[in-house]
Amino acid sequence: MVRFSVFCAALTALLLAEPAHADDNIVTVGMILPMTGQQASTGKQERAGAELYMQQHGDTVAGKKIVLEVKDDTGAADVTKRLAEELIGNDHAKVLMGFGLTPLALATAPVATEAKVPEIVSAAATAMITEKSPYIVRTSFTLPQASAPMAEWAAKNGIKKVVTVVADYGPGIDAEKWFSETFEKNGGSVAEKIRVPLKNPDFAPFLQRVKDDAPDAVFVFVPSGQGAIFMKEFVERGLDKSGIKLIGTGDVTDDDLLADIGDAALGAVTTHHYSAAHDSPENKAFVAAFEKANNGMRPNFMAVGAYDGMALIYQALEKTKGDASGDALLAASVIPMALLGGIFSLWITRTPFSVSAAIGFVALFGIAAMDGILILSYYHLSLESGLSRVNAMLQTCRTQLRPVMMTCIVACVGLLPAAFSSGIGSQVQRPLALVVVGGMLLAPALILLVLPVLVLKFCRAQELPEELPREGAT
Ligand code: PHB
Repeated sequence: MVRFSVFCAALTALLLAEPAHADDNIVTVGMILPMTGQQASTGKQERAGAELYMQQHGDTVAGKKIVLEVKDDTGAADVTKRLAEELIGNDHAKVLMGFGLTPLALATAPVATEAKVPEIVSAAATAMITEKSPYIVRTSFTLPQASAPMAEWAAKNGIKKVVTVVADYGPGIDAEKWFSETFEKNGGSVAEKIRVPLKNPDFAPFLQRVKDDAPDAVFVFVPSGQGAIFMKEFVERGLDKSGIKLIGTGDVTDDDLLADIGDAALGAVTTHHYSAAHDSPENKAFVAAFEKANNGMRPNFMAVGAYDGMALIYQALEKTKGDASGDALLAASVIPMALLGGIFSLWITRTPFSVSAAIGFVALFGIAAMDGILILSYYHLSLESGLSRVNAMLQTCRTQLRPVMMTCIVACVGLLPAAFSSGIGSQVQRPLALVVVGGMLLAPALILLVLPVLVLKFCRAQELPEELPREGAT
């Protein structure tokens, strides 16, 4: 929820702050994916997921036309970073999305932070990614969330000794840690922890080590796209007939590759946040629509991450439209507050309402509205500097106390003699002066105490929290 607020805030800020371009009504979504190379299946699935969402929901939302710009980073982090910079600098991309591997999402984090552009991680899954920029939101998953339930299941289903085999980088290390710790906590033992290189892995020698260890099960994490090679070598080494059960996160039995994997997948048990076989009317409709739009290709969890990423963008745009009017309303809310003091001073001095008093109220409106705008604009500046909402408001009240008090004191002191005058012509100037003096005596308390509470309660769109969700946050 906090991340969604940050996302909405960043998107609003970009949409409002951009100088006028011919493309003002266009929201370019820069999707950076490995369309070629080892992770190409992730690129293909992600692109198809995002396109399906747009096909189903149209390409216009909240008056903005959505343009999806897909770029191939070939799975190389330096290319991802360059493409992110180009998409922001040249294509005016308002959102970046995709990132087929953890290092690619991490390489983009400083670019997103610097440009204050939201980065939607719809594929990569190492838990700590979201901590690398306040502009990152994730619509994929995390490895801890998939690995710990596997360990609990294994411990409850007669598996006592396990060897883990993981790709040697962020998500693999997360998977190994969370599986092992949870499994050991539940009474199991991990005989060996094997890490396999990410690039062009040859699983054969590692699988031989697993066979030699003779565990009850082997727990596996390989990134989406490598499952078919792993399973092929698992069978070729004869592990399928050795009584060693294959367990793991659903990345290895990725729906996109299941047809290639064939019978080798029979008996494997995996845990994941998505399966194309999930038995719900919503998922059946999603799978049918995806297959229809993609020549029968079955969607995997990567497609769902991108589909959800697009849904996030559309919902954020819907939510942020018309946000600016909220400020005007809040600034105007100080006007009736200031009126209270004017009415009170007329009542206490038993002065009837007159044209002079009405002019006093008009002057009061002006001063109160100006103070309200002062508070709101400083509050937004403080938010943009990265403060949380409460801290931004505290800082606003601290720094704006003096200007608000000064305007009120000047107006008050200037009109005090007229408010107490009783000479010739005083009937004309006294009501005006009484209204302004009374209003200005009460206004600072209302503007500095009541308005901040209203702003914190109703004005949410510009929030950029200091404190971000930690471990496993998505
Ligand atoms: C990652 O690099 O974060 C990643 C990639 C593919 C997966 C899971 C995690 O299937």
